[in-house]
Amino acid sequence: HIGYAVMPWKKGRGYATEAMRLMLHEARAVGLDYVEITTDLDNLASQKVVLANGGILVGRFAKVAAYGGAESLKYRIDL
Ligand SMILES: CC(C)(COP(=O)(O)OP(=O)(O)OC[C@H]1O[C@@H](n2cnc3c(N)ncnc32)[C@H](O)[C@@H]1OP(=O)(O)O)[C@@H](O)C(=O)NCCC(=O)NCCS
Repeated sequence: HIGYAVMPWKKGRGYATEAMRLMLHEARAVGLDYVEITTDLDNLASQKVVLANGGILVGRFAKVAAYGGAESLKYRIDL
């Protein structure tokens, strides 16, 4: 699982995009072939971070009830 958040006053400077790029190096280094990342439908900033790092939309899924059950997007990044 890769989770990410940027302090509101530091958003929009490319930090999340760069942080994910660096994290993908780590994932590769430990031998993973791909990672899966999920975002909410309305989280356009997060979707852009994933797409900028080569994410391909795999499909939609319903979150488990404990997380609200909302429909979400699943992306895959091949490493
Ligand atoms: C998602 C998040 C981590 C992005 O952090 P960030 O450092 O601002 O992201 P970046 O600066 O790398 O920019 C990401 C892209 O989203 C765009 N963007 C930012 N806010 C946006 C918005 N409200 N709507 C559409 N696009 C938006 C930026 O312009 C940028 O696009 P670009 O590459 O075409 O210029 C940050 O908004 C955040 O912490 N959100 C709350 C936590 C969260 O949602 N985490 C992800 C859970 S899946």
